[in-house]
Amino acid sequence: MDAFTYRNGILHVDDVPLNQLADQYGTPLYVYSRSHLKAQFKALVDAMAEVKPLICYSVKANSNGAVIRTFADLGSGFDIVSGGELFRALRAGADAGKIVFAGVGKTEDEIRYAIRENIRFFTVESEPEAMQIARCAESMGARARIAFRINPDVDPKTHKYISTGKKENKFGLDMERAQRAYAFAATLPGIEIAGLHMHIGSQILTVEPFVEALDKVLPLCRQFQALYPTFKTLDIGGGIGIQYKPDQAPLAAAAFAAAVVPAIKRSGLSIVMEPGRNLVGNAGVLLCRAHYIKESPLKVFVIADAGMNDLIRPSLYQAHHDIRAVRQITGTLQGDLVGPICESGDFVAQDRVLPAVQAGDLLAVMSAGAYGFSMASTYNSRPRPAEVMVEGKRLALIRERDTREDLVAREPDPAGIRF
Ligand SMILES: Cc1ncc(COP(=O)(O)O)c(C=O)c1O
Repeated sequence: MDAFTYRNGILHVDDVPLNQLADQYGTPLYVYSRSHLKAQFKALVDAMAEVKPLICYSVKANSNGAVIRTFADLGSGFDIVSGGELFRALRAGADAGKIVFAGVGKTEDEIRYAIRENIRFFTVESEPEAMQIARCAESMGARARIAFRINPDVDPKTHKYISTGKKENKFGLDMERAQRAYAFAATLPGIEIAGLHMHIGSQILTVEPFVEALDKVLPLCRQFQALYPTFKTLDIGGGIGIQYKPDQAPLAAAAFAAAVVPAIKRSGLSIVMEPGRNLVGNAGVLLCRAHYIKESPLKVFVIADAGMNDLIRPSLYQAHHDIRAVRQITGTLQGDLVGPICESGDFVAQDRVLPAVQAGDLLAVMSAGAYGFSMASTYNSRPRPAEVMVEGKRLALIRERDTREDLVAREPDPAGIRF
């Protein structure tokens, strides 16, 4: 969270005071530090230097074109999960040859789009999906490169909604099925076996789950390297956890690398990584303004203009985001920071010690750069926030706030609808 510091009692992003951005662009407002994005990317490149991985930034974490562009300029590839993300990545200058396409439910249209653009490879979640990709590739006179996603059945000890590598999760093929799946795919015209993929979950704070998963998949890779001459890549996914709470130790890139590099280096495979949160999570805050302070018999509610529609992580995953007053104050209150949405589940912070703000004060919801705006909705017909990117003293509006007209832009005038 180094990009956000108090100077003269005002919270800044890089060299820009957050109250200036609120005055200029209004609230709620997502604010990102470009310097932090670059520093995180560089830290991962440096830590993993021995295996020179292709880092494919996971676009779902934050899909703003300016974020994608920042990483593309650093040589990043991209992990996508939809035709929409492919479109966004290409529009922002991504090299299609560095794009990998994951997800359990790729449609025929999305598969054809990705083959047309000649992406690096598909990560494949089932045999029927491999058949679908093969059919598309063959009919287009192309060959599609694939890596099956293997579910190594390890517990990443994270929230159950962001755990993806356990047997009960919908993702990947179980280890026992892997041999048969590869043998089957090798018979399909239009398919080239490129490697193996794993992604065991998100916000993982210790190295053990990664080490355990690699212990399981590397022997499989050895078999496949011997069987399939085109099997050359191991994609180790994303999942590196970040600091959300002051007392929480993040999984440092160096510690991650120290644990995984020796084994993956020995494999001789070329390595792909898919970090999302690690690169963008602490690069962003959601800036909001307290509008009312409501004292109920049980607690105080700070009612702000940002809610679950802007940042759903607290409601969806009981996620913790630190809350800081933009104008530094020492007093505290015990209560909830809630939004304007008509749901009891609409909270940004629940049962917490919060800065003792008054109506009109600005608050920063910290660590909101990942899975923040990209999961935002217009529920309750609230326009989605604007997004601003800062580097040093310079700033750019990277997404305008939705207008009310935007809310209905795809709907015909109801008065003109005839059945
Ligand atoms: C296949 C895949 N790769 C990478 C990621 C990025 O994960 P993280 O943001 O935890 O690094 C995800 C997240 O859901 C994913 O599903």
